[in-house]
Amino acid sequence: MSYPKLPPKLSLLLLLITTLAAADLNDDKQALLAFAAAIPHGKKLNWSSNSSVCSLWVGVRCAPDRSRVVALRLPGIGLLGPIPANTLGKLDALQVLSLRSNGLFSSIPPDVPSISSLRSLFLQHNNLSGGIPTLLASGITFFDLSFNSFTGGIPLAIQNLTKLNSLYLQNNYLSGPIPELKLAKLQHLNFSFNNLSGPIPISLQKFPKESFLGNSLLCGPPLEQCPVVPPSPSPSPSPSPLPSPSPSPSPSVSPEEHRKGFWKRLSLKVVIAISAGVLALMLLIVIILLICILLRLCRGGNRPSKEKVIITGARSVKTKEDYSSAVQETKKNKLAFFGGSSHAFDLEDLLRASAEVLGKGSYGTTYKAVLEDGTIVVIKRLKEMVVGKREFEQQMEIIGRIGPHPNVSPLRAYYYSKDEKLLVYDYIPTGSFSTLLHGNNRGTERTPLNWVSRFKIARTAALGLAHLHAEGDGRFVHGNIKSSNILVTQESHASLIDFGLASIMRTPASSSRVAVGYCAPETIQSRKFTQKSDIYSFGVLLLEMLTGKAPLLSPGGDDIADLPRWVQSVLREEWTAEVFDVELMKYQNIEEELVQMLQIAMACVAKAPDQRPKIEEVLRMIEGVRLSESQNRPFSED
Ligand SMILES: *[C@@H]1O[C@H](CO)[C@@H](O)[C@H](O)[C@H]1NC(C)=O
Ligand SMILES: *[C@@H]1O[C@H](CO)[C@@H](O)[C@H](O)[C@H]1NC(C)=O
Ligand SMILES: *[C@@H]1O[C@H](CO)[C@@H](O)[C@H](O)[C@H]1NC(C)=O
Ligand SMILES: *[C@@H]1O[C@H](CO)[C@@H](O)[C@H](O)[C@H]1NC(C)=O
Ligand SMILES: *[C@@H]1O[C@H](CO)[C@@H](O)[C@H](O)[C@H]1NC(C)=O
Ligand SMILES: *[C@@H]1O[C@H](CO)[C@@H](O)[C@H](O)[C@H]1NC(C)=O
Repeated sequence: MSYPKLPPKLSLLLLLITTLAAADLNDDKQALLAFAAAIPHGKKLNWSSNSSVCSLWVGVRCAPDRSRVVALRLPGIGLLGPIPANTLGKLDALQVLSLRSNGLFSSIPPDVPSISSLRSLFLQHNNLSGGIPTLLASGITFFDLSFNSFTGGIPLAIQNLTKLNSLYLQNNYLSGPIPELKLAKLQHLNFSFNNLSGPIPISLQKFPKESFLGNSLLCGPPLEQCPVVPPSPSPSPSPSPLPSPSPSPSPSVSPEEHRKGFWKRLSLKVVIAISAGVLALMLLIVIILLICILLRLCRGGNRPSKEKVIITGARSVKTKEDYSSAVQETKKNKLAFFGGSSHAFDLEDLLRASAEVLGKGSYGTTYKAVLEDGTIVVIKRLKEMVVGKREFEQQMEIIGRIGPHPNVSPLRAYYYSKDEKLLVYDYIPTGSFSTLLHGNNRGTERTPLNWVSRFKIARTAALGLAHLHAEGDGRFVHGNIKSSNILVTQESHASLIDFGLASIMRTPASSSRVAVGYCAPETIQSRKFTQKSDIYSFGVLLLEMLTGKAPLLSPGGDDIADLPRWVQSVLREEWTAEVFDVELMKYQNIEEELVQMLQIAMACVAKAPDQRPKIEEVLRMIEGVRLSESQNRPFSED
């Protein structure tokens, strides 16, 4: 993370502050050393008192100004025994504590979960026992005690955790009823495989039944209906008490049966009412869609439309006219091919091809063209160019000289005439990173992209960018990195397109807001793209992958200015899981990897260009992120 350079006058004050802060860091260090001394551990815990806590101690992360320890992550490091009291509890600036997948046992000392700055606590996959702690930091957002041996009930203290986002208590021995938990921010809950009993409180009925599996005595939505409890002592002659709570059909109509019938009838009415409502809504949507189509309002923007365009033939579709006029024009000239791809096809083939619009970007429209022999190519029709033929051709030569690389989609051919400029690329069927992340706006459900795929795409995109930055004597600039310019293969490998055009294209001031979201602050005015501005865009891309949010300016234009600033604003308040895509929060035990990637992304989006890392460094950092072998690390990890 970057901090603006301070004027010299302030440095004395800063010095004083640092000395003051150092005392606190020293307290943190002593607390950590006491912890390490009190618990048997493996060799990996390389904390030596004469090395720097903030940079050399495994698992320790400090605040950016190195004044305090803010995170301690020691997953699978071979800690064995009870968590010592009076050690970690003294780290009173600690926000994240992860001791998961160790051999911890016995109960949690009360001073640890009550550290007032604590935001995330990961203690899953140990053998901790005793009751769930009741003294809890009020700002906790992530609380994972799953896969331990906790007993007793779910404490009422959890009701007070108003910021709680994720609560994982599955696979323990908890018993008793679940208290009402009215927690507005709670999004992830797992109470499965315990011995909880009674009805599920109304506030938690919105969670899926997978949140409550393996608790045979729990009932009510989303699980089976609760057996109806007979009304409290009433004068009416009560039938013989039910032998078991299991709802078995009985021939005689008891008062309970009456009540059930009433509920059944009522719920039937409700169902009918709801279905009628849904039908009406669907009808309305269909009508709106029809109107939309009639008025052709739905076309435009960046949305890819699937209109079939036949290039040859007399029938005229608007897009077809555009395209065929383009190709007509090219007849007079020739396609210029690069490398080995020469003469794989010619203009005549392009003329006969059937094409469809893939998307409309800031540089022009992209078509997918299927040649008669089945070859599929992507044709990009460039809009406004700021340079003449000579400079265009020179730039094309530079792009054409880029050596082959598995993560860079080569330019196959180009065409230039006064009115028409075309670029020809290979076609990759899977789609762009943007479509994979956000769906394609056509209303089809997206299959959420899993973490391993996202990571692979990010890593291979960095490889591609490193290759590009090494070209042209190490001065080549991509100039237009965004998720829709990264095609993704079946194996989740990225392939970069649209590079090297920034210097010859005029991006209209009204260019899409999405594109602006990727622009480094210094380029928005100057429009001069550099390798440093590429790194910024790449950082935004990583943030997009981690948050699942498109780097759009918010419609209102006030609350979220851009993705990096939004992430910074969330992180400033609390270093939490809240910035991450909810899809990613479904995977357990990847939190540290996510945080590592987040740090890389934040380094890339530094405001000052010279504080951004070079792509080789970005790549090295990404490769340093240790991915768990599987999505759910087993208990017996090393
Ligand atoms: C740290 O201290 C140990 C002995 O306590 C010594 O062997 C080691 O060389 C020292 N390391 C550094 C970096 O000073
Ligand atoms: C401790 O281990 C970490 C990572 O394993 C390493 O980066 C660090 O340099 C080590 N510290 C010392 C003092 O050896
Ligand atoms: C976990 O701890 C309990 C005692 O609290 C013990 O009976 C059990 O064997 C331990 N389980 C494992 C896997 O070590
Ligand atoms: C919740 O917090 C309030 C005050 O902050 C406290 O009085 C109350 O005892 C707490 N409730 C539980 C169940 O801990
Ligand atoms: C589960 O809880 C019930 C009471 O709620 C208790 O009777 C039963 O013994 C418990 N079962 C186990 C396996 O702990
Ligand atoms: C809760 O955990 C259990 C396994 O321990 C798992 O089967 C279930 O899918 C989880 N539920 C949710 C909602 O993630």
